[in-house]
Amino acid sequence: MNANRLLLALSLTAVVTVAFASTESIGDRQRIMKANGAATKPVVAMLKGEAPFDLATVQKSLADYQTGIATFVTLFPDDSKSGAKTAASPKIWDDTAGFKAAADKFASDAKTAASAITDEASFKAAMPTVLKNCGSCHETWRVKDAQ
Ligand code: HEC
Repeated sequence: MNANRLLLALSLTAVVTVAFASTESIGDRQRIMKANGAATKPVVAMLKGEAPFDLATVQKSLADYQTGIATFVTLFPDDSKSGAKTAASPKIWDDTAGFKAAADKFASDAKTAASAITDEASFKAAMPTVLKNCGSCHETWRVKDAQ
């Protein structure tokens, strides 16, 4: 292989690696959100009175929200604006500080609720504030009809 061919081969490898890296970030952040969905389902059932209150499950969901969102905000490299059917809004890259503030609010509401919730009454009082973050963040920072 001559030098030019070698360079071409190396640069193609770099392109493939970058494409893979962005797809990986998209997959990782969507997995975290899927886990949020899974953690929220039993909690909503409890709020609606469709499942008995269970403090351990509620606290586990609140802890998972906090660790998940801390990683989530790190998974938006420039090369992951599009592709792999991401629903992330381009606004995330235009106003990263605003996006991070929304994530911080979610984490801090989850933390506050984790300290406040000790029984069913405190759960019913504190949990809705945490869950409002899901919809309000999606409204601003997620596009609905993404490919
Ligand atoms: C700080 C903003 C933010 C918060 C808070 C947030 N989300 Fe998300 N969520 C997003 C973004 C952005 C996406 C799109 C990610 C992508 O497609 O790259 C998303 C995607 C999702 C998805 C789709 C995942 C998939 O399969 O592609 C689900 C489900 C979800 N969120 C559930 C939740 C739930 C439940 C909560 C609250 C407990 C929550 N989210 C809180 C920003 C947020």
